[in-house]
Amino acid sequence: MLRLQTPLPERYRDASPEALDEMIGAAKATLGERLFILGHHYQRDEVMKWADARGDSYRLSVLAQERPDAEYIVFCGVHFMAESADVLTGDHQAVVLPDLNAGCSMADMADLDEVTEAWESLGDVIDTGELIPITYMNSSAALKAFVGQHGGAVCTSTNAREILDWAFTQGRKVLFFPDQHLGRNTGIAMGYTHDDMRVWNPRFELGGLTPEEVQASTFLLWKGHCSVHQRFSPAHVDAFRAQHPDGIVIAHPECSHEVCSVADQVGSTDFIIKAVAAAPAGSTIAIATEIHLVNRLRDETPDKTIISLDPLICPCSTMFRIDGPHLAWVLENLVEGRVINQITVDPETTEWAKVALQRMLDITQGNPVEAVRDPATDSRALPV
Ligand code: 13P
Ligand code: SF4
Repeated sequence: MLRLQTPLPERYRDASPEALDEMIGAAKATLGERLFILGHHYQRDEVMKWADARGDSYRLSVLAQERPDAEYIVFCGVHFMAESADVLTGDHQAVVLPDLNAGCSMADMADLDEVTEAWESLGDVIDTGELIPITYMNSSAALKAFVGQHGGAVCTSTNAREILDWAFTQGRKVLFFPDQHLGRNTGIAMGYTHDDMRVWNPRFELGGLTPEEVQASTFLLWKGHCSVHQRFSPAHVDAFRAQHPDGIVIAHPECSHEVCSVADQVGSTDFIIKAVAAAPAGSTIAIATEIHLVNRLRDETPDKTIISLDPLICPCSTMFRIDGPHLAWVLENLVEGRVINQITVDPETTEWAKVALQRMLDITQGNPVEAVRDPATDSRALPV
C-alpha cells in the first residue's frame, strides 16, 4: 500500500542527536500524562529510550487499550500496529505514527479484495460455515474487520496456538493469513502434519489448488511471509552449532518451518526476551529475529553471549523508518496542538475489527467468547 510521508522539515532533518534528545525530552515533559509512547521491540535505541512501554504486538495492543486517559498515543512501530491501537482506543484518543511510510511488507501481501475473492471461491467447493478465518496481527484493519464479520479472530505470534485451538471449536478448517510460516509452525506444534495444510496462492484461481485439495486440507495458509525472518536457514543453525555445540537457538515463528523445527525454542519477541533471561549465565544464544532486538538483548545481557543466527544483519527496513527526527517532529507538533500523522480507521471497519481483536484478547485472557453465526449473512453477530 502506498502511503505518502511528507518530507521532514529541516529543523529535524539536520538536527544533531543531542538537539533531538532535547526536543523530544522537552515535548514529552510538556505533554506529560496526555502522551503515551509505545515502542515495539524492533525499534532503534534512539527511539526506544523514549518509550513509556515496550512490547511485542500483542502486549502493545493490550497496553494501548489500558490507557484511556492518554490523549495521544504515539506508536513507534508499524502501520498495522497503529491501526490496531486506533481500533482499541477511544474516539477521544489520537494514535500517531511518526513516519507514515512505516508499513509491513508481509501485511501488504494480503488485501481485502484478495481475501474476499478467496472466500467466495472457497464457497464454491466447501461449506464456508465450517471455515474460520484467522488473521495475524500483521494485517490491515480491513482484514481484521473481514475476520470479525466472518466469525474469526486476530492472533499474534504470542497467542497463535490459543487462537487456533479456539478456531477449531468453531469450525473444522482455518483460512490463515497473511503469514504462512506462523500458521504452519503453529499447526505443526498442535500436532497437525504438512498433509493437513495447503498453501493458498492468491495469484491463481482457487489459490492454485484443486477442489479435492481444498476439501482435504484443515489449514489453508496464505502465501505470505516476512522477508526479514525468511532469511534465516537451517544452514545458519548448522554453522552456529558447529562453532557452539552447547549453544541455544531461539527462532521467531515467522521463520520457516525448516528453521523452527531445528531451533531449540520458538516464540514471539516477548517469548524470546523471556527465554534469554531464563537461560543459564554463560550461555551462548543465537537468535533468529530482527537485529535491533538481538542487539538490545546483547547489550542488556552481559552475562550471556547473544548473537544473530544470521551473521549478516537483518533489520526490518520499515520499523527502521521511525527515528529521532520523526519522533521529535510529531511530538513538537502535538505540543503546538497539531496532530500530524494520525492513523484513523473508519467507523464501520473499526466496529468489526474490534470484534476480531476483542475476541483475541478475550480468548487469550480466558474470557468467554461469543461468536454466533448468522446463516443469512454468513456473518456472526456482534457480541452484546
Ligand atoms: P511480535 O508479534 O512478536 O511482536 O512480531 C511482530 C512482527 O512484526 C514480527 O516480525
Ligand atoms: Fe513486517 Fe517482517 Fe518487519 Fe515484522 S519484521 S514488521 S513482519 S516486515
